[in-house]
This record gives sequence, structure tokens and C-alpha cells, in this order.
Amino acid sequence: MNILITGGAGFIGSNVADAFLAEGHRVIIVDNLSTGKRENLPPEAIFYEVDIRDADQLEAVFKRESIDIIDHHAAQMSVPASVADPVYDANVNVIGLLNLMQCAVKYGVKKVIFISSGGAIYGESETFPITEDMPVQPVSPYAITKYVSEHYLRFYWHQYNLPYTILRYANVYGPRQIPHGEAGVVAIFIEALLANKTPKIFTFPDMPEGMIRDYVFVGDVVQANLRVLQHGDGEAYNIGTGIQTTTLTLLKTIQNAIGTGITPVFSEARAGDLRCSQLDITKAAQHLGWQPEYDLKTGIQKTVNYYRKEEHLP
Ligand SMILES: NC(=O)c1ccc[n+]([C@@H]2O[C@H](COP(=O)([O-])OP(=O)(O)OC[C@H]3O[C@@H](n4cnc5c(N)ncnc54)[C@H](O)[C@@H]3O)[C@@H](O)[C@H]2O)c1
Repeated sequence: MNILITGGAGFIGSNVADAFLAEGHRVIIVDNLSTGKRENLPPEAIFYEVDIRDADQLEAVFKRESIDIIDHHAAQMSVPASVADPVYDANVNVIGLLNLMQCAVKYGVKKVIFISSGGAIYGESETFPITEDMPVQPVSPYAITKYVSEHYLRFYWHQYNLPYTILRYANVYGPRQIPHGEAGVVAIFIEALLANKTPKIFTFPDMPEGMIRDYVFVGDVVQANLRVLQHGDGEAYNIGTGIQTTTLTLLKTIQNAIGTGITPVFSEARAGDLRCSQLDITKAAQHLGWQPEYDLKTGIQKTVNYYRKEEHLP
């Protein structure tokens, strides 16, 4: 199939591109390289340096390539940046999506895979793990634009019969991650420790080990993308591990993988930090036969090995 990956020069999108190519698909990547990197692009992929906000340039890609599937990873993906500039966030995440969806209808795309955020859209939940049908309470512009996008997908499905699947990622980590994105803490800790710098843990008064997150390895996220090529039309799936990990446990796991023991400093949680996130992944297991294969220790070791090899030191 001809698969358009938006954001395919980024951390997760480029890992997904590698997997689609390995499965024999033709991969077309659209990315404006704002946070993505040229060196992440697989050489076999066809690359267009295009901004999804530019409707004309985007349409030119659809005119040239006969796109079967859109796998939409491009986004403004920083929560603090969305707070600082909600207009930019909405332009990329909402207008960019609509530009794509208009092309999808016009050029007969068969399915859209949309990447949402299970770590952001549920907000400060009171019950864990969080299932897909629990209340969605986005509290940042980033989370709002992700959830709005989910509604637009439902609109295009009802209006134009355009199938979609939504993947709501937990906190993704792994090779090619950059420190300043959503869930950048793994990359931040690894880079700090490899450079012998002191890591910082943000805590709430009643959570001295830091916030609780659900960390999923990018290799498992890639597998979920492969599954939904054929399955899960009209559905949203949490893609995480269902396991709670505190920031301190994460740091210790990384320290063990690196073989260092630098004592962290602790600091007050920042405005907008969620206390806890843990996704229920039963639905993805039942519908897609998808399960995460990597535990935190194994995934972190692979990630550390990558950073060492690539010498991604600050
Ligand atoms: N990293 C996580 O833990 C996480 C969690 C939940 C959801 N997500 C979502 O996964 C997707 C990929 O995130 P990532 O962590 O790989 O981030 P990333 O920054 O590495 O990837 C995003 C890519 O989109 C590109 N891009 C941004 N704006 C663009 C525009 N206007 N036009 C064209 N390309 C543009 C960037 O250059 C980059 O290559 C995003 O949609 C993000 O919201 C990530």
C-alpha cells in the first residue's frame, strides 16, 4: 500500500516508517522538519518537506502520490508550547488535520490513522487504569486540539464514509526521542546521566517519588500502527502498558542501565503537570491482538544503547 506518514522525520513517525517499509509498503513522508530530523528519514521513503498548514503544497503531494492510508503523526506536541502559543498549536494540530482530511476525501484515501494522546486528553483522572470510555477532560491547549481532532475524524467518517482509527499513546520513549517533546523525560534523564549531570525530579508534596506515568517503548507503539492498517475502524485505542511508574523508579531504571548513581535533586511540580496517568489497554488487546512486548528495563536498555552509540550527548 501507499502510506503517507506525516511527521515521519520525527521520533515516533520515523520508527513507524521503518516498520511499514520493512513490511513492503511504499512510504511517503510529509514533514516540515520543525522538530524532526533529516537523518531520521529512511532512505527508501519518498520525502516532501511540506508544512501541513500549507493546503496547496499538501494537495500537490496527494496529486502526485496515490495515497491509500494516512498515518498522521505530525503535530505541535509540546504541552508547555501549547500553553505559550495556543494559536500556533491549533494551526498545526487542527488546521493541519483538516487540510489532510480534505485531501483524503478528494483523493479517495481508504483510511486515516490518527495519533492522539492518552497521556494528555483524559486530564487528571480519579480512577485508574483509564479506559477509553472514561470522561475525557483535556486541560491544556495541546490536549484540547488532540480531542477536537478525534471529533473531526468522526465527522469525516459519518459524512464521507472515511474510516479512521485513533491511537491514544501513553508516554512513549525509545531511540530518536528528543528531550523537549511530550514525555521527553526519558531522553532528558539519559542525556543528563551520560553527561554526568544531576537529574531533576518534579514532585507533589504527597508524591515524593514524582509523578506516575505509563511508559511504553516505541517498538510496541510501532506494532500497534501495523495492526490498525487492517483493523479497528471507527475506534479509539489506548496504547500503553497499563503499568504505573514513578519518576524515581524511571530514573533508577535508567541509572541501572547506564551503570551510574548520581543523586537527583527534587523540585516542585510545574503548573499543568498531571499527577498520574495509567492507561487500560484491554481494548487494544481484545480488538487488535496487540500487547506491549517490552518491559521498562528492556526498553530502557535498548534506548540507552542507542544514545551511547549515537553519542547524543548535549
Ligand atoms: N512522544 C510521546 O510520548 C507522545 C505521546 C502521545 C502522543 N504523541 C503524538 O505522537 C506524534 C509524534 O510525536 P513525537 O514524540 O514523535 O514528536 P516529534 O516532534 O519527534 O514528531 C513530530 C513530527 O511532526 C513534524 N511536524 C510538526 N509540525 C509540522 C507541520 N506543521 N507540518 C509538517 N510536519 C510537522 C515535526 O517536524 C516532527 O518530525 C505527535 O502527534 C504527538 O502528539 C506523542
